[in-house]
Amino acid sequence: MSWDQLLEPGVVVRDSPLETERFGYSTTRLTIGPGPVDAGRLLATIEGLAADLVVVRYDAARLELAGVFARSGRAVLPAGALTYWEKPLAVAEPSRPTPPPGIEVLTADTMDAEVVSALVQEIVRASFQDYGNHYLANPLLDPSAALAGYQDWAVRSLHANPGNVLVLTDRREPIGLATLESGADAGHLEILLAGLVPAAQGRRLYGSLLDGCERLAAARGARRMVISTQVHNVRVQRAWARQGLRPFAAIETVHLLDRALLLASPGKATDVRCRGVTC
Ligand SMILES: CC(C)(COP(=O)(O)OP(=O)(O)OC[C@H]1O[C@@H](n2cnc3c(N)ncnc32)[C@H](O)[C@@H]1OP(=O)(O)O)[C@@H](O)C(=O)NCCC(=O)NCCS
Repeated sequence: MSWDQLLEPGVVVRDSPLETERFGYSTTRLTIGPGPVDAGRLLATIEGLAADLVVVRYDAARLELAGVFARSGRAVLPAGALTYWEKPLAVAEPSRPTPPPGIEVLTADTMDAEVVSALVQEIVRASFQDYGNHYLANPLLDPSAALAGYQDWAVRSLHANPGNVLVLTDRREPIGLATLESGADAGHLEILLAGLVPAAQGRRLYGSLLDGCERLAAARGARRMVISTQVHNVRVQRAWARQGLRPFAAIETVHLLDRALLLASPGKATDVRCRGVTC
């Protein structure tokens, strides 16, 4: 979900046919943007929704909303917070570090369309297969379908505008990518997905990909670069801090799930994985 969509004021409800088809449960997105929210009306809105699953996003500072969700009768699944980071960009092209030898960042519109489409799917599969996304909070949803969703999202970005996909190469071998979207006001460029294949991780090459994004943003006249991740993804935040980005917003995600569906689902053994230092 882009930063622009989160800025829409008030309570915005949208059915999500893509997620409905992907996961096999009717899904609605409910986003709570800036401005006052009437708790009673929000509760009535939630209670009036027929979807099996309502994916809610709201400013993490609105802690009081948890009580509204709990009163709705649906099961409330905390699905992690997104942290948003930004970097102001100079209008004049600033000097940028030279990439390490053999490292290049190419826009997908300079590459063969079919080749790059397969490449995008493969890089997203490899780099995001262990990404702790919000769908994992929901035991009804198939994690492999969630990963396929990320692949589809990247391919949709590619088809909409190949100039919005950057491919990082090491001696002409593709090792990473970033998908981008210009903000509605053209004042910022948002990085939607960015990752490196596992073999290329840990070598600080991600910084070269971010440099490529900054260059493109500056060339388009954007004054700000925006990016987000799940808050537990400390690794990428360290890379952003090194690159000079700073956090500016936190957005909570919860899944409001039909309780009967949850209770009727087969009690499959949950693979509880330890992702932190302690567990
Ligand atoms: C996140 C990612 C892009 C980082 O690329 P990378 O080249 O591996 O990053 P770096 O080697 O520069 O490491 C980044 C920092 O994380 C640290 N780090 C490495 N492994 C870590 C781990 N398991 N946990 C926490 N920090 C870790 C590194 O030490 C480094 O910190 P430092 O700058 O203080 O030394 C890459 O790992 C990736 O593609 N991950 C999957 C996709 C993803 O999460 N994308 C971001 C959301 S859109």
